[in-house]
Amino acid sequence: MKIDNNGTIFFDGVSASEIADSYGTPTYVYEENQIRENFRRARDAFRKRYEDFRFFYAIKACNNPAIARILKQEGAGIDAASVNEILLAQKIGLGGEDIMFSGNYLSDDDIKQGLESGVIFNLDDISLLPRVLNYGVPELLSFRVNPGYGRSNVGEFVTNAGPKAKFGVHPDHVLEAYRQARDAGVKRFGAHMMPGSCITDPEYFGYITELLMDLLGQAGRDLGIHFEFIDLGGGLGIPYDPDEQPLDIEAAADNVANVFKKKLKEYNLEPPTLMMEPARYFVGEAGSLLGRVHSIKHSYKEIIGTDIGMNVMARPVMYDAYHHIYVDGRENEEKRPLGMCGQICENSDFWVKDRPLPEGTDIGDLVVVENAGAYGYVMSFQYNGRLRPAEVLVKGNEHFLIREREKFEALLEGVHVPDHLTCDGGSFSQAKERYH
Ligand code: LLP
Repeated sequence: MKIDNNGTIFFDGVSASEIADSYGTPTYVYEENQIRENFRRARDAFRKRYEDFRFFYAIKACNNPAIARILKQEGAGIDAASVNEILLAQKIGLGGEDIMFSGNYLSDDDIKQGLESGVIFNLDDISLLPRVLNYGVPELLSFRVNPGYGRSNVGEFVTNAGPKAKFGVHPDHVLEAYRQARDAGVKRFGAHMMPGSCITDPEYFGYITELLMDLLGQAGRDLGIHFEFIDLGGGLGIPYDPDEQPLDIEAAADNVANVFKKKLKEYNLEPPTLMMEPARYFVGEAGSLLGRVHSIKHSYKEIIGTDIGMNVMARPVMYDAYHHIYVDGRENEEKRPLGMCGQICENSDFWVKDRPLPEGTDIGDLVVVENAGAYGYVMSFQYNGRLRPAEVLVKGNEHFLIREREKFEALLEGVHVPDHLTCDGGSFSQAKERYH
């Protein structure tokens, strides 16, 4: 998004008011050109330092097939967290080794369907191996390694490795995991980790690469196995606070490539495909949430009531995450501390407190939450009978509805009411008579 000199907000070449007039609010808006730019910037940074490099897109961050197709066109595979995400990836025309299944704590059904789908199976624990082998020996197998350390700008909640994390093969079990897989007849191997999300410190990426490579180097050397790919996970961060520095992607790629190549040599490993599977870096900043002010209350504080509640943007309430907010046409005004909330019957929905916002903010104004493209729509929910927002893609001066706003019927989809509850009890007074 950008703001012109008059304070008017644009998504690429389309104004916020045109989107609101066309589709209503709240609406997630994604900028196609920005997604492509983000992808290419990162891909080029890594590829120029290590040619055999590929991105998979973690579809969990924004699962709209139109968005996933943009990344597919750019050459990304898909990282799927569940069987349904595998199906989504297949719907956009990917399959086989272009999809990696990194589920955790899987049921037998998950394992069976995951194997049948023919995608790369990435096991979150050594204990899953015998369960997988019950269905046959996969030709290619990967383990998600917990390298013993993780970190995240989103806070402890999103630290995905180290002693407190629920993910990955314990570092002490890595050698044994690959040994058991090899002895069971697996012929081709890959390796994976995902230690943290939203990191803007380039040093971190070199550090985790070193941790992983020391574990894999040992396994490769002791077991005589070749890793066809090594996937360093996602985690390429974006700044949410306007004062925060963006990730220096060239420095991150430099750190990764230097360590990676050094460790390949040190352990005498045949060079694998180097992979990463970010999501936020591609779609986070390229997506915004557009809402409207519906009501203003002057109480203990002045509270601006919008249709952007925790139900459509859960991150602030779940993780205390910061998202900057702009008011269309008013960014040139003086700011004063205001509160902002959504329409949900929970006080946690009062998610913006004492934030400097344009002083004239008024009913009918459009508000834009920035950096909402990753973990935004996908984490929205129907609490209080509020329906999920629409999703719109913008490209240049064109805009496309890529997901309709949910309709009332969605609240009843799949609902069954047993017969004994459908016979009408009559009016309240009839019911009262019966009761007495
Ligand atoms: N790969 C795996 C296995 C993952 O679990 C994730 C994200 C990614 C890749 C992509 O990570 P990214 O590049 O986007 O950091 N809901 C939280 C983020 C949770 C991250 C979950 N895993 C948030 O709103 O910040």
